[in-house]
Amino acid sequence: MAYIKGLRCRECGREYPIEPVHVCEFCFGPLEVVYDYEAIAAVVSREKITSGPPTIWRYAELLPCSPGAERVDLGSGFTPLVKADNLGKALGLKRLYLKNDTLNPTYSFKDRVVSVALTRAKEFGFNIVACASTGNLANSVAAHAAKAGMAAYVFIPADLEKGKVLTTAVYGPNLVAVDGNYDEVNRLCAEIAGEYPWAFVNVNIRPYYAEGSKTIAFETAEQLDWRAPDHVVVPIASGSLLTKIKKGFNEMIKVGLIEARSTKISGAQALGCAPVATAFEAGVDIIKPVKPKTIAKSLAIGNPADGYYALKAVNETGGAITTADDDEIVEAIKLLAENEGIFTETAGGVTVAVLKKLVESGKIKPDELTVAYITGLGLKTLEALEGKVGPKATISANLDDFQQAFGL
Ligand SMILES: Cc1ncc(COP(=O)(O)O)c(C=O)c1O
Ligand SMILES: [Zn+2]
Repeated sequence: MAYIKGLRCRECGREYPIEPVHVCEFCFGPLEVVYDYEAIAAVVSREKITSGPPTIWRYAELLPCSPGAERVDLGSGFTPLVKADNLGKALGLKRLYLKNDTLNPTYSFKDRVVSVALTRAKEFGFNIVACASTGNLANSVAAHAAKAGMAAYVFIPADLEKGKVLTTAVYGPNLVAVDGNYDEVNRLCAEIAGEYPWAFVNVNIRPYYAEGSKTIAFETAEQLDWRAPDHVVVPIASGSLLTKIKKGFNEMIKVGLIEARSTKISGAQALGCAPVATAFEAGVDIIKPVKPKTIAKSLAIGNPADGYYALKAVNETGGAITTADDDEIVEAIKLLAENEGIFTETAGGVTVAVLKKLVESGKIKPDELTVAYITGLGLKTLEALEGKVGPKATISANLDDFQQAFGL
């Protein structure tokens, strides 16, 4: 436990030992991992990190696992930070970068959080893991559990995309398709978590699991030659990723890896599931739950656990939260693919569509060094493109037909 002090309630500040618990017994606030930053500052350096593994584990001192822990590691992280000059030009941004997190072991950023969660769960002595998921977490938990030799119970809404269901089932977990939306699946999981002593990555292991998302910020700063961006655009489902990106940049400053700089953090939601964007636009801090209806199923959380904190992070940094409707999501998927050769799922479509709107509205300035987070792969949500893209010509196998089709 060298660098972890314990858990602390985000609301009342009460402290708890390192155990598989996630809510404060006194005020029901969420618990968060507390680190000994002085001790960490004394051991981390740019050189040490650079010589570490090309994975999230190069930042092990800032993750909530013991130094000697047996890691559950499929090689997550250290994904490319792409300088997106073509897309930047199309949108009117001079310094646009994309963090291509589609290139993780199960093709989404969730591999970061799951590698940390299962490593910690193993340390606690669990041999059964579980989760409620909108799809990508399911993929990742199933794959990491297979590698770790742990049994897994994975709960998903029954109407998820085929590309999420099959790519989870293939790893052999106890995959449970529930007739209901994510919020209903999550409620069921909270109940099951009370009955069985399992490691529910987004319930009793949540404080540890969520920390894995910080690594996407650590890498961003390292890949920008050790500086934080001016502005970032982050998709919001539960709001955890956005919250932890802020924490990640702050921690790097705290332990002396980068200079202090304020990074504006903006959020992206689908119009059909926008509880945090709605609160942002109304200027209130109460998130009213909604019933999701959007093609961005991975972001379809109507009652986001960290929505309040995500909203706070956006407001504190001077960012904004905007939405994209289904047509805009598909257009943005195409815009990204055609300009940068990156094929993202619907969540990335939401992010790129919102990035475009934030530039158009002047919220992101042309000179700002901007990073947009592309968090999942397009092959998992092919349904979104059905009938929207296809062959330019369908011909018989002869030269004449080809020449005629293209006027050559
Ligand atoms: C591809 C993708 N991007 C972003 C998110 C949002 O993550 P969070 O729940 O941490 O807000 C999710 C959540 O499932 C996701 O699958
Ligand atoms: Zn409390």
